[in-house]
Amino acid sequence: MLAQLLHLEGIDSVVLEDRSREYVEQRIRAGVLEQGTVDLLTEIGVGERLRREGLVHDGIELQFAGERHRIDFPSLTGGRRITVYGQQEVVKDLIAARLETRRPLQFDVSDVQLDPQLIRYRHGGEDVEMSCDFVAGCDGFHGVSRDTIPAGVLTAFERDYPFGWLGILAAAPPSNEELIYAHHERGFALHSMRSPTLTRLYLQVRPDEDLDEWPDERIWEELERRLGVEGWTLNTGEILEKGVTPMRSFVVEPMQHGRLFLAGDAAHIVPPTGAKGLNLAVADVRLLAEALAAWYATGDETPLERYSSDALRRVWRAEHFSWFMTSMLHRLEDGDDFDWKLQLAQLAYVCSSEKAAASLAENYVGLEHV
Ligand code: PHB
Repeated sequence: MLAQLLHLEGIDSVVLEDRSREYVEQRIRAGVLEQGTVDLLTEIGVGERLRREGLVHDGIELQFAGERHRIDFPSLTGGRRITVYGQQEVVKDLIAARLETRRPLQFDVSDVQLDPQLIRYRHGGEDVEMSCDFVAGCDGFHGVSRDTIPAGVLTAFERDYPFGWLGILAAAPPSNEELIYAHHERGFALHSMRSPTLTRLYLQVRPDEDLDEWPDERIWEELERRLGVEGWTLNTGEILEKGVTPMRSFVVEPMQHGRLFLAGDAAHIVPPTGAKGLNLAVADVRLLAEALAAWYATGDETPLERYSSDALRRVWRAEHFSWFMTSMLHRLEDGDDFDWKLQLAQLAYVCSSEKAAASLAENYVGLEHV
């Protein structure tokens, strides 16, 4: 995304990816795009398939105490909505756009070292060395760029949650038009989707849950229990993919050291309950591209100097929202009846007060000005 934004400003870049093209195009990740993300993808010329295949949603359902409650986005947010479109589909569209520009994009690179503006790596059996004006560390939580920043520069803020999500992709039509976030005494469950024939479903489990203990029938039974309400049936089908994701909140400050700028998961992680991870990464690189474009156009350093603090305002808002959704919806392992009642009170408030619903909705669809 950053490479495409820079390309449109006439700025050259080299994209290094340590996985293969097949891997990044197939790996199932997030699925919810904020309006602002959709708008930006469209502006930069990669919104065509998204417009055709993306599923536009006007709301979500929150389920608790055995009942579903709908949060309507357009009426609460001045017409904003979300679009369900797999992250790997966004990745496919961006790769296609990049290849069209004929600017470099290298897969399967290894041994990347940043020194800071001199980059060394291996590609196709050769050692490569390259100097550059800037490095954008868009390499995720486990990437190399954050770790090249000297000790003492960054402050990390973290929260681990005592649970994870067991996620499946199933060859089954979605059982509901919209996403369902379910609070249940056996643990949280989420009904989502990828297309009219593919359902994406999640169950709260332990973070170290052993997938071998979850044969397909057990997964379906548990989903049926947690998501079921009277008069509703869960569509089942072949399970195409299964995995367990741990959950954490994590932020480093600042998101910059010299000419190295961190973006996305390299700088911050949110638990998936607020559907914010991909959208935050997009918001980061939009700011970074603007700042880099200003520097190349006029030599003005100010936007680059402000990148970290500008990005962190949105990051912390999303950190709060993701923590809020996570805390409200999950069964807390060491929680007591008091915690349980607080969650129910909060859910009832969000679903009965228009102001509380509007607050959830504006965060979910993405705040315009943060
Ligand atoms: C998904 O479809 O993968 C998904 C949707 C909403 C979330 C998290 C994941 O909050």
